[in-house]
Order: sequence, then structure tokens, then C-alpha cells
Amino acid sequence: MPLIDWDDKFLLGIPQLDEHHRQLVRLLNQAFDGFTAKAPAEEVSTLLEALADYATYHFAAEENWMKANGYPRLTEHAAEHDKFSARVTEMLRDVSAENPTLPLELLTFLKNWLVEHILTTDADYGRFFRTQTA
Ligand SMILES: [Fe+2]
Repeated sequence: MPLIDWDDKFLLGIPQLDEHHRQLVRLLNQAFDGFTAKAPAEEVSTLLEALADYATYHFAAEENWMKANGYPRLTEHAAEHDKFSARVTEMLRDVSAENPTLPLELLTFLKNWLVEHILTTDADYGRFFRTQTA
């Protein structure tokens, strides 16, 4: 069973960034599958690192989009990304120290953060985009 089921309520109406969000959900589910299949810690770490790397790439794309489109709440939004990245880096360091309880804690954090962030913080620039293009 996936950790997150993709739901069209996540859609912002910006195809490139919506596709990034789908990919983040896919990568998170892959890491969760590895964890539930009791894959070796190293393998779960690799999956989590792939997700973290993709999140970094995606955040830069979002922030570039916001700059290009004159989105007024870029600073606050980027601060949420930075806080997330710092927390994930810290947790990944502990995962690689083979703390057996951490992958689940990290997966839960990632799931809650991602859903909340897409539905509130990202939804805000989605609305901004729709009012600009209406
Ligand atoms: Fe975002």
C-alpha cells in the first residue's frame, strides 16, 4: 500500500510543477516500499537520498518559477523549503548512522510535510497563477 495516494486535489494547474509533485509522491512511496519490504538500511537510505535530491531540484524550480512570475510571497515560501531541507539533512545523517527507528520517523515527517505544503503553501501560488492568467 502506498504511503501517499496521489490525489488530484494536489494539482496546481502548472504542468511542470504538478509533474514534480507527482514525482515526489512516487519517490516517497518507493522509499516507503523499501522500508516496509525490510530492504537493507543502506538501500532505504539511498531511496531517501534520491527523494531529498529531487526535492532540492524541485524547490529550485519552484522558486525560479515564482521569481519569473512575480509571486509576492517567495521569501516566506523559500524559507519553508530551507527549513525542510535542513531538517531532512539532519535526519538523513541519523539514518545513515543506522538508527533503526529513524526511517519511519523520517517517512512520516516527509509525508505530513509534503501533503501540508502542497495543499496550503503551494496551493497559494497555484491560486496566484490562476488569478494572473484568468
Ligand atoms: Fe513549495
